[in-house]
Amino acid sequence: MVEKIQRVAQEIEAAQLSNAAELEQFRIAYIGRKGIISSLFDDLKQVAPEQRRQVGQDLNQLKNLAQARFDQAQEQLVNAADSTAAESAFDFTLPTVPNTLGTRHPLALVRNEINRIFSRIGFNLSEGPEMEDDWHNFTALNFPENHPAREMQDTFFLSQDRDKLLRTHTSTVQVRLMETQKPPLRSIMPGRVYRNEAISARAHMMFHQVEGLFVDKGVSFADLKQTLYFFAKEMFGQDTKIRFRPSFFPFTEPSAEIDISCFICKGEGCNICKQSGWVEIGGSGMVDPNVLENCGIDPQVYSGFAFGMGIERIAMLKYQIKDLRLFTENDVRFLRQFEGVI
Ligand code: PHE
Repeated sequence: MVEKIQRVAQEIEAAQLSNAAELEQFRIAYIGRKGIISSLFDDLKQVAPEQRRQVGQDLNQLKNLAQARFDQAQEQLVNAADSTAAESAFDFTLPTVPNTLGTRHPLALVRNEINRIFSRIGFNLSEGPEMEDDWHNFTALNFPENHPAREMQDTFFLSQDRDKLLRTHTSTVQVRLMETQKPPLRSIMPGRVYRNEAISARAHMMFHQVEGLFVDKGVSFADLKQTLYFFAKEMFGQDTKIRFRPSFFPFTEPSAEIDISCFICKGEGCNICKQSGWVEIGGSGMVDPNVLENCGIDPQVYSGFAFGMGIERIAMLKYQIKDLRLFTENDVRFLRQFEGVI
């Protein structure tokens, strides 16, 4: 019995107690009700009466030893767990990482502004595909068979037969609208267009236009003038003047180029308006009766006006941007200048 107590004592001293599982095993084996020490106490009855007192004391010591080892190992494990929890916890004293806000692209700003202005006078918004066919880009718009705009130097054709192409203007959306809806139609159509041009500060092979179309009974050139006058004042300031110069487009008759008074020099003459006091913002005219007919609208009953403006052109004027290429280069030093503008 004495020997057994000594052996168990050695085992207890040597026990590996480095994790919770080992600790639990130790508790069951030595301290628990069915453990070794408990069974040794049961055996005490068989010890000779004169030795019983001593053996009893030894057993109590053994029990204390097991309990002490258990308590100490448990404390160590709890401390270790606490310190790893503390290491992984969030450090509230760290400085924050500044959250930088994105900015709207100047073309999106101008487009949104145009949309807002026209929506106030009853225009809704329409869109069409950038990949088009000859009918919507040219033929329905009254372009004669041999018109120079159909030539390779102007248009990106997508098929050998030249029927598929990248739209060269947003007037395609006019056609789609008139083909699918009945007048009255009052819509603006912003979008991207493509032309086969060398890229420079003043020209690009990809840019944006916004088209406007108003078709109803009794629409006149006076309505066109008044609509664009309202737009010019809202966009560039209430003292802006507007002027129409006779021009030609296959799909409008009569046609006119739209100029606004230079809002930078107020008509005095500067390098933005090339000393003329006027800047061009787009083309316009009364929808040609042939176009109405091509789209299934009776020109005897209905008339309409249309206009088209370059969004880059307006953005360049409004923000005095001198190089068209800045719009597509994604230079953050340029884009950040529009921070906070909505
Ligand atoms: N589509 C013409 C262009 O791209 C602009 C325009 C639109 C002119 C509508 C008149 C009417 O130059």
